[in-house]
Amino acid sequence: MKDRNTIRFSDSDRGIRAAISFLQKGGLVAFPTETVYGLGADARDERAVADIYRAKGRPAHNPVIVHVADATAGQRLIDLPEAGLKAAEVFWPGPLTLVAPVRENSGIAPICRAGAETLAVRVPEHRLAQALLKAFSGPLAAPSANRSGQVSPTHADHVMEELSGRIDGVLDGGPCAVGLESTILGFDADGTARLLRPGGVSLEDLERALGTVHSDTIIDDTAPSAPGQLSSHYAPGARVRLNADAPSLGEAWLGFGPDPDRVSAISINLSPSGNLEEAGANLFAALRQLDEWLGESGVIAVAPIPEIGLGCAINDRLSRAAAPRD
Ligand code: TXA
Ligand code: MG
Repeated sequence: MKDRNTIRFSDSDRGIRAAISFLQKGGLVAFPTETVYGLGADARDERAVADIYRAKGRPAHNPVIVHVADATAGQRLIDLPEAGLKAAEVFWPGPLTLVAPVRENSGIAPICRAGAETLAVRVPEHRLAQALLKAFSGPLAAPSANRSGQVSPTHADHVMEELSGRIDGVLDGGPCAVGLESTILGFDADGTARLLRPGGVSLEDLERALGTVHSDTIIDDTAPSAPGQLSSHYAPGARVRLNADAPSLGEAWLGFGPDPDRVSAISINLSPSGNLEEAGANLFAALRQLDEWLGESGVIAVAPIPEIGLGCAINDRLSRAAAPRD
């Protein structure tokens, strides 16, 4: 299905106007957010959203996140419990997605929910995402702008590598500052918040703002509550060995903090100073780069990452990259 000329739109008023002219015609335009690049289409247009699934090769049962410019617009789409309203107030705009029952008059194409009664909504903070959403003045459905099963894109080049010829364009905003996908928060029937995917907002920050957040979410491949949880979702071609002290002979090295005495020729350090924000921002580009250097037969040994703050989301993505493949 490589039948399109994919345009790189510049970070300018002209670029935004050109991107919008495609979106208004039901086209597909990737755009930067502070987390990762999203593949956008008019969320009210069933056919345009169906095209996202085709371009990504995304299974039809996996719902997409709808992006809007501000919390007021978000609350018009979903019915948030008390904790959700608080989360929206504290963390929007930002790297947080809220999942709640869709409102009857939302106007969102049902395909975005893939059969669920709930809808996932996010208000991104990125300057270009904000400019695009305001100028479009409507909701944009946008999963990460990668082929299904691949690592999320954190540069416009990554989007081009995977989707060139399949989409109308990408608005180039340079690298994404957070580099990990948004945290996804759902709510139990009693209104208690439940972490569905760790991401750019840490559990510690959520709990400080909201009180208890259930985070015992079980990864269940047969009935995932956020299907991004399918265990081998973020899969590079190379094999990944976690919590390594040092690379064994022939292994590539993905470091965090000071490197061990002997590292391989093929090595990248996510953050030599051991900064989790820096490591998060570098993670997906590093996995892509090591994968390109190594090919399918290689092994990437990964330094231990502390399970605190953004470290939880980093470890979550790394363990999926290390999970057995089908
Ligand atoms: O940072 C992000 O979240 C990026 C940017 C572009 O916003 N988007 C992103 O989308 O990561 P995607 O489609 O790659 O991951 C969204 C996840 C999927 O695992 C999907 O299953 C889950 O959100 N999801 C979407 N709607 C849902 C719903 N109604 N209930 C539960 N999970 C949902
Ligand atoms: Mg994705």
